[in-house]
Amino acid sequence: MKIACIGTGFVGVVTSAIFASHGHEVVGLDIDENKVKSLSNGEVPFFEPGLSELLKKTLADGHLTFTNSYKKAISNAEIIFIMVGTPSAADGQADLKYVFAAAESMAPYLKKEAVVVVKSTVPPGTSKEVAKIIKQKTKTSFTTASVPEFLREGSAVEDTLHPSRVVIGTTDKKTGEKLTQLHRPLSDKIIIMKPESAQMAKYASNTYLATRITFINQIADLCEKNGADVEEVVAGIGEDPRIGTHYWYPGFGYGGSCFPKDVSELAAYSRAVGESNNLMNKVHELNLARTPYLMEKMGQKIGGWKDKQVAVLGLSFKPNTDDTREAPSTAIIKYLQQQKANIFGFDPRAKWSGETTNFSQKKSLEEAVAHADVIIAVIEWPEIISFDFSKTKLNKPQFFIDGRNQFDPATIKNWNYIYLSIGRG
Ligand code: UDX
Repeated sequence: MKIACIGTGFVGVVTSAIFASHGHEVVGLDIDENKVKSLSNGEVPFFEPGLSELLKKTLADGHLTFTNSYKKAISNAEIIFIMVGTPSAADGQADLKYVFAAAESMAPYLKKEAVVVVKSTVPPGTSKEVAKIIKQKTKTSFTTASVPEFLREGSAVEDTLHPSRVVIGTTDKKTGEKLTQLHRPLSDKIIIMKPESAQMAKYASNTYLATRITFINQIADLCEKNGADVEEVVAGIGEDPRIGTHYWYPGFGYGGSCFPKDVSELAAYSRAVGESNNLMNKVHELNLARTPYLMEKMGQKIGGWKDKQVAVLGLSFKPNTDDTREAPSTAIIKYLQQQKANIFGFDPRAKWSGETTNFSQKKSLEEAVAHADVIIAVIEWPEIISFDFSKTKLNKPQFFIDGRNQFDPATIKNWNYIYLSIGRG
């Protein structure tokens, strides 16, 4: 099939490369000329395992090209994916200006019976708005659909090649069939529904997962009050098939480009439609308060942060990505700066781009912990959780904060660290 992908951000590049690798003729479009140039040279502007190889392969075999010309990208396309950013607006709701601008720009070049698919995360009703904008600019017949994206950073290629399900939002039979044909090689689980349901499914999925994390963080806090161990509690609840054992890691709160944004957008959407007393407000609020709350609690245990040498290990929002958007490390470092601690950061991939007062990023984990009074293992990068901290133990009392409960408490204590973790008595 001939496919156009508008927007070469994270989802855009991954989706373009995957469809191209399945033999489709894909044109990636971005209005940023520099992005088009570097992608055409096979350079991925972020780290995502397996993506660079896939991009180079699909460029070389000619299935994938990039352009900044709407005419070039759209004129032959049977299916057009809109995958531009939807940042939160001032009122907290998704700002759809890039989605609408893409709709307007593509309209004059649309081929007869083209399918315009909104993949960006958008509120229910957006496909109708998109159709309205296009109709103002063309008489060509076309249909719209919504196919939300559920991939995770760090495993985006794998998630797109083998999605847990493909949700197709359309009320048009032919459009549903065409999109099913496109996605069938990726998944047997294709679910066709109304566009509004598909858009709600995306928000509901992310908000549910964010709520689950917030819930286990709260249970962890309660465990600390009574000597229970949250990891044992998870074992005790997880065998119930209605609950399950995974995605239950307590920590410094969820981050990334999706959960914080989607939860607050759904909260704002709820308020806008008259449902102000909603769970999403509270989840968002609790997650924002999570890191300051933990840092204060830990501060009491370590005798205050002021003038402490603190190693912050893991700057990205999760392992296997260099993305620092809404990363817990950001709130941790901000807190430590306010408390006048001396901060040494380390991450295998991510670069700190925030305020640098009292902060320096080290090239190696060894350098970051070289003078540490306190080590904070923020997230579970393999490089961090497999590191032998016995080798870097200093001849002074040192605290070890296991922000993800990834270390064996007995081992860390044997190495003479004072071990603190999340929700373990
Ligand atoms: C998420 C969704 O999983 C994905 O389906 C959607 O398309 C985009 O948003 P992503 O943001 O890449 O994906 O990461 P994910 O692995 O889901 O983690 C999100 C955040 O939650 C991270 O900060 C992570 O550290 C945190 N998290 C995750 C926890 O704190 N505890 C957990 O048990 C799991």
